[in-house]
Amino acid sequence: MATRTAGTGILSDENAQKREEIIGLLTKAYWMEIETVMSYLAASVNLDGVRAQEIKESLAKEIEDELGHARQFADRIKELYGVVPGSEDFTPEQGFLQPPEHQTDTVHVIRGVIKAETGAIEHYTRIVEETDQVDPVTQDMVIAILRDEQGHRRLFEGFLREYEFEGIA
Ligand SMILES: [Fe+2]
Ligand SMILES: [Fe+2]
Repeated sequence: MATRTAGTGILSDENAQKREEIIGLLTKAYWMEIETVMSYLAASVNLDGVRAQEIKESLAKEIEDELGHARQFADRIKELYGVVPGSEDFTPEQGFLQPPEHQTDTVHVIRGVIKAETGAIEHYTRIVEETDQVDPVTQDMVIAILRDEQGHRRLFEGFLREYEFEGIA
């Protein structure tokens, strides 16, 4: 027998297949966080204009949150005997968060952030479901991250509401 013995839950030999599934889900989550860091960093620098300042500051704060999430997903991949992938495995998916044509187009960024957060919320909700009764430690971690993403989305929905109210969005 290897060091992974029965009776250790998700780390046991008989749960190897389930572990692989969870590592796959965590790896996707890891890449989502990394891409979000890239997109938010670019947007937090690129945006121009008086109205953009609040958005830029919020994005700058969220970059730290998302990097922290990426680190947690990476740690959990390793704890489940997986390997954190290298950059050559990365495939971009945030076409909607590329720099806008005009750098004063704050609404483009707000909508992009809401879409990215919504995607994260959907994927993390799936992880919470898939790990239910199987891997409570991953589930617990992802529930906490999910709450952060819900907070991020709510904040940017508030920004969008303001723009809509003023007829800009
Ligand atoms: Fe995140
Ligand atoms: Fe987020």
